[in-house]
Amino acid sequence: MVMFLGISASPRLGGNSETLLDQTMAGAAGAGAEVSKIRLAGMNIHGCTECNDCYECGECSTADDMDRVYALLERADRIVLASPIFFMGLPAQAKAMIDRCQRYWAIKYILKEPLPRRTGAPLRYGAFIGVGGTRGERLFDGAKLTIRYFFDAISVSPREDLYLLVRGVDAKGEIESRQAALDSAYKLGETLAKL
Ligand SMILES: Cc1cc2nc3c(=O)[nH]c(=O)nc-3n(C[C@H](O)[C@H](O)[C@H](O)COP(=O)(O)O)c2cc1C
Repeated sequence: MVMFLGISASPRLGGNSETLLDQTMAGAAGAGAEVSKIRLAGMNIHGCTECNDCYECGECSTADDMDRVYALLERADRIVLASPIFFMGLPAQAKAMIDRCQRYWAIKYILKEPLPRRTGAPLRYGAFIGVGGTRGERLFDGAKLTIRYFFDAISVSPREDLYLLVRGVDAKGEIESRQAALDSAYKLGETLAKL
């Protein structure tokens, strides 16, 4: 069974990006995936200190809630990060989580060892759900670039063709009036589960 992990990066619980993520997870569950969700808001996840201990052992020396995230990342066959755009990039909660994946980067590129996996599925796919209050053409460029390197560090193939990027949604709950986006989110989950 495909293990689907949804990561909600918004500090606003029940906000626009999380609402879309919930739709995606419903689509994935409907297509037979086992779904898990984490909300980064409220979790105790420190930033990377660049101690470089992971260059030696592949482990992170900082003990906090990231341990739970590591366990889920290592089990997941599909990973969807849902996030608002803050100052043209990812919010601090998402960036801290991604920076703490430096240990996987070290395992892959310094230690040149296989990444820890808790299931055996050979192919892993990732997608991004992004929401921003404005409509600029380059609104998602910064986040997409960071996410590309995040997925590379954890050996997940980014399905940029499936990314759901929603512009012009700002107030909490505003996404409820964007039925096309909600439908697309549901389909995204179905599609990822069936890949
Ligand atoms: C600190 C902060 C920075 C933001 N920066 C941007 C931005 O650079 N561009 C943009 O279009 N919207 C920006 N927004 C608006 C959010 O992206 C928007 O409200 C979004 O709908 C929030 O999604 P959420 O409900 O999932 O948290 C910002 C909001 C906050 C609080």
